Amino acid sequence: MKLVALVGSLNPESKTAKGLNVAAEAARKAGAEVLVWNLRERPLPIYDPSAERDENTLAFIQLMDEADGFLIGSPEYHNGPSGALKNALDFVGYNQFNGKPVGLVASAGGAIATNTLVQLATILRSLHGYVIPHTGSMSYADNFNADGTFENPKMQERFEKVGTDVVALTKALRG
Ligand SMILES: Cc1cc2nc3c(=O)[nH]c(=O)nc-3n(C[C@H](O)[C@H](O)[C@H](O)COP(=O)(O)O)c2cc1C
Repeated sequence: MKLVALVGSLNPESKTAKGLNVAAEAARKAGAEVLVWNLRERPLPIYDPSAERDENTLAFIQLMDEADGFLIGSPEYHNGPSGALKNALDFVGYNQFNGKPVGLVASAGGAIATNTLVQLATILRSLHGYVIPHTGSMSYADNFNADGTFENPKMQERFEKVGTDVVALTKALRG
């Protein structure tokens, strides 16, 4: 089983990336291969339907094609997902998401990133992805240990469950 973890923050010290990594590690322990696409390290151009796709963008689309499921993380920007993440999702659609599980996490500067999670769920459901109900929301108060785990064990559990739920649903759907 191959999952793609898509990091929607370009911040070099991204909390979204760290939180998504907790979910990805749990998914790996549950048996999945998880490939990370970090939009800071592998940026995509602004979506233009008339432009020829460059090699990096074609590699992104192919990776999304091949995935059995997804972990997606976004910072909360103006009460919604980052423009970089939405732009990346504009390159893909039903072909990549139809019938595949999607786990969501988000990071807010305030108390909760619920608006971002709800908006992402709406976007992914419109692409016929199976968005799992359990999500991970980080606040300003949530921080990480040097080994990448959450300081708060309850947050660690919550984000690990995003990863393991995606693996469980992917297994169930493949019979
Ligand atoms: C342009 C911009 C808009 C933001 N808007 C919000 C917001 O609406 N609500 C909020 O709680 N935090 C907001 N923040 C704070 C980020 O969500 C917060 O710093 C988050 O942890 C960033 O995640 P990252 O470390 O993965 O980049 C905003 C930050 C930026 C740069």
